[in-house]
Amino acid sequence: MGEKKVKIRSLTSKDLPAIIEIDRKVLGLNRPEYWKRKIELSEFRPPLASLVAEIDGKVIGFILGDVSGWEFGVPDNTGVIETVGVHPEFQRKGIARLLAEELIRSFRLNGVQTINTLVKWNDWDLLQFFHALGFKRGHRINLELDLTG
Ligand SMILES: CC(C)(COP(=O)(O)OP(=O)(O)OC[C@H]1O[C@@H](n2cnc3c(N)ncnc32)[C@H](O)[C@@H]1OP(=O)(O)O)[C@@H](O)C(=O)NCCC(=O)NCCS
Repeated sequence: MGEKKVKIRSLTSKDLPAIIEIDRKVLGLNRPEYWKRKIELSEFRPPLASLVAEIDGKVIGFILGDVSGWEFGVPDNTGVIETVGVHPEFQRKGIARLLAEELIRSFRLNGVQTINTLVKWNDWDLLQFFHALGFKRGHRINLELDLTG
């Protein structure tokens, strides 16, 4: 990415403020408690399943992944990408691709054979991004029950 060096490393709890800020910039949401819980949980996950991208010591992107246990009949060799986000000023510079490729490398080293992710049908940025990485429609369908009506 130009002359600036991008560093990919494991996420730590110290990255919480930067992630909250990226979420605020990307989705306009302020969700400190949500991210605190997510990141606390990521400490119980495989160490290379949650990564951040840094430029000059500033966190500008992150990816959260996990490897499934046997819940929902999903075998251990299935990885999941839960969420990925890049600061708007740094998008379309290959940051998310670097994060995802490093995560995929780490999944592969840990015996993962399939990676799943869920994307809203009209979230074009994410759909295009996963398409660019080679993701295709999977075999499971999403079911939902509306309890508000
Ligand atoms: C989707 C997202 C992660 C992509 O990050 P990024 O760093 O800009 O992606 P990259 O530059 O690595 O893109 C890699 C490839 O994906 C595709 N791609 C990525 N964003 C795209 C877009 N907006 N439109 C079309 N294609 C896109 C392109 O093929 C791109 O390669 P190219 O730039 O050489 O054409 C970023 O736009 C984002 O954070 N969106 C919000 C996601 C979100 O809602 N997260 C949850 C809360 S934080």
